[in-house]
Amino acid sequence: MGFYLYTHLMTKSNTIFFCSSCGNEFTKWSGQCPACKEWNTLTEATSFTKPSKSGNKSSIRKPPQTQTISSALSDQKNHTFSSNISEVDRVLGPGLTRGGVYLLAGQPGIGKSTLLTQLAIKSNKKVFYICSEESPAQVATRVKRIDSKPNNIQLTSTSVVESICELMSQNQDTIFIIDSIQSVSVDQNATSAGSPSQIRDSANLLIQSAKENNITAIIVGHVTKEGSIAGPKMLEHMVDVVLELSGDRQHLLRVLRSVKNRFGPTDESGLFQMEGSGLGEVKDPSKFLLEDRVEAAPGSCLTLTMQGTRPLTIEIQALVVHSPLPIPRRIAKGISTNRLQLICAILTKHLNLPIDTKDVFVNVTGGLEIKDPAADLGVALAIISSTKDKPLPNQSICFGELGLLGEIRKVNYTDKLQKEAKTLGSTTIFSPLTHKNLKNIKF
Ligand code: TYD
Ligand code: MG
Repeated sequence: MGFYLYTHLMTKSNTIFFCSSCGNEFTKWSGQCPACKEWNTLTEATSFTKPSKSGNKSSIRKPPQTQTISSALSDQKNHTFSSNISEVDRVLGPGLTRGGVYLLAGQPGIGKSTLLTQLAIKSNKKVFYICSEESPAQVATRVKRIDSKPNNIQLTSTSVVESICELMSQNQDTIFIIDSIQSVSVDQNATSAGSPSQIRDSANLLIQSAKENNITAIIVGHVTKEGSIAGPKMLEHMVDVVLELSGDRQHLLRVLRSVKNRFGPTDESGLFQMEGSGLGEVKDPSKFLLEDRVEAAPGSCLTLTMQGTRPLTIEIQALVVHSPLPIPRRIAKGISTNRLQLICAILTKHLNLPIDTKDVFVNVTGGLEIKDPAADLGVALAIISSTKDKPLPNQSICFGELGLLGEIRKVNYTDKLQKEAKTLGSTTIFSPLTHKNLKNIKF
């Protein structure tokens, strides 16, 4: 104990404590972060001093340059270029930006490296691929799998951020792909790669260098078991764009979304399909999702939801069976379990649906994760249909949010969805525009 205290005091002077949630630094450890009030988030890290860029800086600084709004706007226009993958451009808005820093997050094995390899291949610019996680040979094999002879890609296997920055300064106006932020480290920081302070310091230097050298930097970030981006939350604040690639590894469909976008909208999403030679763009996702659909089956409901600004037709399936358990199960895949429990409660209360002794399983086909409340009605109708063992009418489709009183509420883009339902040739439409309450729906 005495020895521990002694060594602890010896190192205290150059040790700081770093909050993995808000990113603040403290000289003392405490169980609760004094800034963001999160518990057990302070971790020990060696204090890090920023390397001097020019050595002997003059104490007299020049005033910064200023510019008008119109010149800033035209600058921005000249700074954007297409990624040459239309689904990626759709998500980004204007395309990629010179000096822009992008964070691509996603579960392991979902296809982040594949997407970035494709982006590198299609790019008209010189691309530096920093393979700190895999060996250049592994990355080269992936490149070859997708395209036989791209000659604009340079592979580097360094994991030292300072040398990446040096490479950036020698190759201005190029694209840098850093795969991944968790496997690179700054020399001055003694903590191991992947620690919150290391991620923060690495990102800091990379962003600064990318901006100075007009480089488009795309950084891969891993996600934790809970699905959030590993490392300090601050990382998301530091970069310009946060992209998320999601999907079910057992299925082929992948969805690219922007969670944050300083250059464009955040409501768009791009759809891809994992193929033998990389991620293919899915132009008609509804057709792709409904390929194996069984017509006129009890428990199946066609539902319209918005995927970004595009309407998407999905199939929601429900299975309602007698439960042998004292507390029946409510199991959902593709929608949140809480939402399913709420919908079951609404059905029990307002329609007297006898499901309180039954297990309810709900699945969104295709491995899609649906957060749009417009799918509520589809879930409810699929459950009703399975409970009654009666299929929904042929060529029927639905959308709408359910309120706690059983009312069918309008959603974003209600008119657009109604129009889409008609375009699809649906003969029966259940929506907030046709039915006000669940009780009014008869089939
Ligand atoms: P990868 O891009 O390595 O995932 P991440 O970087 O997100 O961890 O790709 C993961 C999976 O994709 C891998 O299991 C193999 C599969 N894959 C294909 O199906 N087709 C392809 O052309 C490529 C390159 C990968
Ligand atoms: Mg990878």
